[in-house]
Amino acid sequence: MGDIAIKNISFSYEEGGKVILKDIDTRIHAGEFVCVLGQSGCGKSTLLRLIAGLESPTAGELSIDGAKVDGASLQRGVVFQDYGLFPWMTAGENIILALKQRFPERSKQELKKIAVDMLKRVGLEDSVFGKLPKELSGGMKQRCAIAQAFSIDPPVLLMDEPFGALDAVTRTRLQDLVLELWAQGEPKKTVLFVTHDVDEAMLLANRLLVLGQSPSNIIYDCVIPDEKRPTRESQFEDPEFLKMRTELIRQINKDVASHVEKTM
Ligand SMILES: Nc1ncnc2c1ncn2[C@@H]1O[C@H](COP(=O)(O)OP(=O)(O)O)[C@@H](O)[C@H]1O
Ligand SMILES: [Mg+2]
Repeated sequence: MGDIAIKNISFSYEEGGKVILKDIDTRIHAGEFVCVLGQSGCGKSTLLRLIAGLESPTAGELSIDGAKVDGASLQRGVVFQDYGLFPWMTAGENIILALKQRFPERSKQELKKIAVDMLKRVGLEDSVFGKLPKELSGGMKQRCAIAQAFSIDPPVLLMDEPFGALDAVTRTRLQDLVLELWAQGEPKKTVLFVTHDVDEAMLLANRLLVLGQSPSNIIYDCVIPDEKRPTRESQFEDPEFLKMRTELIRQINKDVASHVEKTM
């Protein structure tokens, strides 16, 4: 579950308008943790929105486990930078709302138990359940959003710069949390994680994709096998990873240079 087939998809927001993505063709295998990198405005969020079913490709085909993506689905959890919690509901109510859609047959008590357990799993204390988002710090809100996404247990998880607004220490903790939740999955979820932070991507991903400037395409695709995964220490010590880091930065910037040349 969670196998994503992206067959030659192209996309424009308006008919005959600017082409944002062009002929993207790849397969994302079930259980992969894929980080998507690229310059701002190249179409990373657009690609995620397509996979989420919030937009439809202009050309090509997008399917998950053989079924065409058609509208949003509980099979795909999303976590965005702005937390995605309803401000008028408590953290607990936000999670229960998502759970109700996923498990309509379960009682309120059962759903509450799942929500409380999930908040605990992401390191939040019981009292958070009854708090409104505005009473929580950015890191706590993002933990709630992660709890919500994992509680509905979707085979595919889409994360769009989820830690972009957080301070460095909170960010480090949440990176560890997401990696831990992913690694504990049985079976593992397929994760697509957009970031503009090369170091974050190398730490989290077992596959890295770089999108070029729009109309964008995949210009770099590299797999880091689980047994070779860097740690926070080896990431900056191991010559192999330092080389990969340089190459990633080069790839991201290379296309910008040629894009500027083309448009001049
Ligand atoms: N709703 C929209 N309508 C029209 N154009 C959009 C819309 N959303 C994004 N774009 C344009 O699509 C391009 C890619 O945007 P986006 O996917 O958000 O890039 P990224 O996430 O890589 O920064 C940009 O040029 C942006 O201006
Ligand atoms: Mg974006």
